[in-house]
Amino acid sequence: MSGMVFDGCDVTELAERFGTPLYVMSETELRRRMRAVKRAFSERYEDVEVLYAGKAFLPRAMCALVKSEGLGLDVVSSGEIHTAVSVGFPMERAYFHGNNKTAEDLTMAMDVGVGRFVVDNRDELDLLASMAEERKTEVSVLFRLAPGVSGDTHRYIQTAHTDCKFGMPLLGEGLRDCVDTATKAPYVKLLGFHFHVGSQLMENRAYLEALEVLGDLMKTLREENGFETKELNIGGGIGIPYGKGQREVDLDFFLGCIVETAERICSERGMARPRLVIEPGRWIAGPSGITLYRVGTVKEIPGIRTYVSVDGGMADNPRPSLYQAEYRCVLANRLDDPADSVVTVAGRCCESGDILIKDAELPLPERGDVVAVFDTGAYNFSMASGYNRLRRPAVVLVKDGEARCIVERQSFDDLIKGESVPEDLL
Ligand SMILES: Cc1ncc(COP(=O)(O)O)c(C=O)c1O
Repeated sequence: MSGMVFDGCDVTELAERFGTPLYVMSETELRRRMRAVKRAFSERYEDVEVLYAGKAFLPRAMCALVKSEGLGLDVVSSGEIHTAVSVGFPMERAYFHGNNKTAEDLTMAMDVGVGRFVVDNRDELDLLASMAEERKTEVSVLFRLAPGVSGDTHRYIQTAHTDCKFGMPLLGEGLRDCVDTATKAPYVKLLGFHFHVGSQLMENRAYLEALEVLGDLMKTLREENGFETKELNIGGGIGIPYGKGQREVDLDFFLGCIVETAERICSERGMARPRLVIEPGRWIAGPSGITLYRVGTVKEIPGIRTYVSVDGGMADNPRPSLYQAEYRCVLANRLDDPADSVVTVAGRCCESGDILIKDAELPLPERGDVVAVFDTGAYNFSMASGYNRLRRPAVVLVKDGEARCIVERQSFDDLIKGESVPEDLL
């Protein structure tokens, strides 16, 4: 019987050594992907910055990898900032996103010298401008825009339509007022704009549409407000194939069209080219990770379906129950056996919706088999919850046959840490 190997490591052995559920990340693949985006983008345009979107997966070791590959970082909370600072990340290369940054978040970001504040709305602009003035600290700012386009993706991960909680809409005079305020504020340096059209986009149509909208806006602001755009951040969102039959995006084509469009919108309108920033998360982390589970109960409901329950589920991967995300899997310890049954891989949480994979084609699983689910490197560990008081799984970083634990499995004591019971209740 042959077993699955991932970045040189026998997967069944990893499950035995570190326990299950287990997140396994390939260092080789993470580095390869970071380099591929950087190359594809910087070969085509002279002034670029590639950020990794930390929301996809951001333990400290990942921050250290991003730092060693020379990428910048997209952060959205004080927690992500703290994580980055803890590994000595060069914070001038961090971009601070989010639609509701608190005064504490902004203070921390200024204290550690975050490079860009991606201001989401008027309220945040006023707060940041007054805080910066009080501290006499200059802050470099981009405005997040909602350019009114919709990416072809699940509606929960569309983020650039007008009726959206993110960004400044282009309707009315609100944005122009914000530009005026920012350019007059003594400690605010407005550099340009940001949009993120959505996540898991398998084609670049929405980016191109958004760029056209931005081209017109940049021209108007230059002519009517005297504002020259120096930096344009086009967000993340490059999709990956999850389900059967989906294909990899052609990264060179995907990014090539974006760069060509950016160049064209500038030359057609007689504008200088701004610095271009991109911030993929999923494309880098997703395919670099797998999750291992141990099979427990196998329950056949005659004529209906067979449920194969594993020792994790929506607590370690909420995506299938959140937006019907699809995944593929294998039995890592039985790769040679014919995949002659169709089963439903169910999680162990107390929700009927906790189904990881609906119609998985596998050899009929038995208790103790190891299920390896592919492409779980992004938005799994980072979205994990403590539902049902399941302990958060460990994360192992593998490379060329060596495995290192980068996040320990939570212990039972970790689960109750920080909790107290008023004496009269004991
Ligand atoms: C502002 C911003 N940038 C980048 C990303 C990363 O997106 P993805 O992981 O799809 O590349 C997101 C994801 O939600 C985002 O909101």
